[in-house]
Amino acid sequence: MKRYEKFADEIAELIRTGVLAAGEKVPSVRHASRTYGISASTVFQAYYLLESRGLIIARARSGYFVRELAQQPLAEPDISATAATSTEVDVSELVFSVLGSLKNPDTVPFGSAFPCPSLFPLPRLARSMAQSLRDMAPNEVIADMTEGNPNLLRQIALRYGGSGVALQREQLVITTGALEALNLCLQCVTQPGDLVAIESPAFYATLQVLERLKLKAVEIPVHPREGIDIDILSQRLDKLPIKACWFMSSLQNPLGASMNEAKKAAVYALIQRHQVPLIEDDVYAELYFGANPPKPLKSYDRNGLVMHCGSYSKCLAPGYRVGWVAGGRFAEQIRRLKLMTTISPSVPAQAAIADYLQHGGFDRHLRKLRHALETQQASMLASAARHFPPGCRVTRPTGGYFLWFELPKQVDSLQLFQQALNEGISLAPGPIFSASRGFGNFIRLNYGHPWSPQCEAAMATLGGLIRGF
Ligand SMILES: Cc1ncc(COP(=O)(O)O)c(C=O)c1O
Repeated sequence: MKRYEKFADEIAELIRTGVLAAGEKVPSVRHASRTYGISASTVFQAYYLLESRGLIIARARSGYFVRELAQQPLAEPDISATAATSTEVDVSELVFSVLGSLKNPDTVPFGSAFPCPSLFPLPRLARSMAQSLRDMAPNEVIADMTEGNPNLLRQIALRYGGSGVALQREQLVITTGALEALNLCLQCVTQPGDLVAIESPAFYATLQVLERLKLKAVEIPVHPREGIDIDILSQRLDKLPIKACWFMSSLQNPLGASMNEAKKAAVYALIQRHQVPLIEDDVYAELYFGANPPKPLKSYDRNGLVMHCGSYSKCLAPGYRVGWVAGGRFAEQIRRLKLMTTISPSVPAQAAIADYLQHGGFDRHLRKLRHALETQQASMLASAARHFPPGCRVTRPTGGYFLWFELPKQVDSLQLFQQALNEGISLAPGPIFSASRGFGNFIRLNYGHPWSPQCEAAMATLGGLIRGF
C-alpha cells in the first residue's frame, strides 16, 4: 500500500468512527504534512482519493471538509434484544419467497446478496479458465477431485500465512462455496436436536441449515459495531449443552459488525474452556475498507477448535462456487463427508481461480472493489439521510456491501417488502434473519451496485413507503 493510500485510510477511519464529523474541516495540507511527517503532495493525493470516494469535498479557498449529508446522518441501531433460550427454526418458506423476488432483472436489487457482477474481473477469469484447462494434464481432471487443486490449496495457504494464521495444507478442504463448508462443519459436530449458538440477527442460510439438520438455535444478540454479546454467550455456554457456535467475527451479515482483537481472544478463550467447536463464517474477509485486514478468530486457535470457512463468491468469482474450510481437528471428517456428498467442486473452476490468484492481479482487483464499495456506501448513507423519515437508524460497517436499517416501530418490513416490490425495488426484510421471527421493523439493503439516479429514486420511494406506515 502506498503512503498516500495509508494516510487516506487513516482519515477515512476518523470519518467512519465520527472523530471527524460531517461538515468538519479535515486537517489542512500544511498541518497534516507536519503532523504525519509526509509531503504536501502525499496529503494532496490522499485528499483526491478521499474526494473520489465521496468522503470529503473541497471548498474554494477553505480546504477540505467531511462530506455533509443532506441532514444529520442517521443514528446507529441498538444491540438486539435477548431472545428465548432456544428456538426451533422454521424460516425457509419465507426466505425462498424473498429470494424468488430477486429473479426479475428490472428490479432495483437492494435485496440482493451479491455486489454488481460488473465489479468482478470476469473476462480475466475467463482467460484463466481457458489457460488452466489447456495446461491441465489428463490425470489432474480426476485427481484434483479428491485432493483439491494443489495450486489453489497453495494460494489459499499463502494468504492465511499473510494474515497471521499458520496452516498445514492438510487442514484445508476445498468446497462448493462457503455454504457447503458451513453445512459440512455443522454436520460434523452435531446430531439432530442439538443446540447451536448463532448470532441474532444471523445470515438467513445459517437458519436454513439449522432447520434442515433439525438443530435448535440459541440466539446471541449482536452489537451493530462490536459483534456478539460475549456476556450472554458466556451465560448460555454455562447453562446450556451447546454443541457448536457459528459466528462471523468480521463484517457480520447483516449488521457488518466486526469484533476487535480483544473480543476475538475472549471468544476463543470461552469456547476453549467449554471445548465447544466454533464455525467461523468469514466470507466477507477481503472486503474491509481500512488499511489493515481484520484477523480471523482462527488466528487465536491453538487447538484446532475453529473451522474457518471462506469463499471467492463475494470477492472474486460469484457463480464459480469455490470456497474452502480450514477445518482444524475436524478437517479429515469434513473431507470424508464432502466425498460422501458432493465429491468435489468443479475441477475447472478451481483451476481457473488458482491461475487467476497466481497471475491475475487479485490484490489490485480487491483494492478497486473495496474502493467502489466504500464510495457506494457513502452514497447510500447520504441518500438514506435525505429520504428516510426521522426515527430511522442505520449501521456504518467498515466493509462489505450491506446496511442494516432499523425503521420506526410501526413499520412492518414484510409488508414494506411487498409494497417495495410492487414499485420495482427489492429489499431483505428483517424476519428472514431471525430464528424467532424478530426484527419485524428492520431491513437490509445492498449497496453493492454503482450508485445511479435509479438507486436515488428507489431510496426516495422507500422513504415515502416508510412514511406511509
Ligand atoms: C454470511 C454468508 N455466509 C456464507 C455465504 C455463502 O457463500 P458461498 O456463496 O461461497 O456459498 C453467504 C452468501 O450470501 C453469506 O452472506
